[in-house]
Amino acid sequence: MQNRLALRYAEILKAAFLRPLTVMVHHRRKIIYLLGFMGSGKSTVGAILARELRWPFIDLDVTIEAGQGLTIREIFEQVGEPFFRTLEHAALTEASKTEPAVIALGGGTFAQPQNIELIRASAGVTVWLDCSFEELRRRCNGMTNRPLFRDAASFAQLLEQRIPYYRLADYRVPTEGRTPEEVAQQILQLRLF
Ligand code: S3P
Repeated sequence: MQNRLALRYAEILKAAFLRPLTVMVHHRRKIIYLLGFMGSGKSTVGAILARELRWPFIDLDVTIEAGQGLTIREIFEQVGEPFFRTLEHAALTEASKTEPAVIALGGGTFAQPQNIELIRASAGVTVWLDCSFEELRRRCNGMTNRPLFRDAASFAQLLEQRIPYYRLADYRVPTEGRTPEEVAQQILQLRLF
């Protein structure tokens, strides 16, 4: 168990640190990627942030749904998660060509090493909307378009698996007890550009 965990961390660190030089020499591009778990507010905060900045807003899940003419739940049901991840990567590849842009990722987007690599190579800024397990669960309760939101135990396990990836974001913004407007203001105050 200990060994498996160590190997997993080594994998994550490899994805995070092996390619930073290419990014460091690049100019930072005007792309803000919002990441975080289901229910962290990526879509709501992203729309407000984009409006404030007068930048286009791209919600990755919405783009995928529009491209397939299916809801996220239907995509999971009909073709499964691995194919959803392929669609997600393709949508991210397209989205990352837009500048300026605020891009709301899906909860699992920034937990796939190939996406982390793509995002880093795009030279945008990553912001993690952090939130407690209890609050995330409360916000997701009753939502039907989240195939990976099943029971409390699997939700907690998934969050635990994702946190090491989320920690790789450039910025962490706590969202607990804050309205989406307040979170967007916090991001604006980071003076990213
Ligand atoms: C997922 C989160 C969802 C959506 C899909 C998979 C995940 O996005 O992309 O259901 O793996 O956590 P939200 O975080 O916007 O709910």
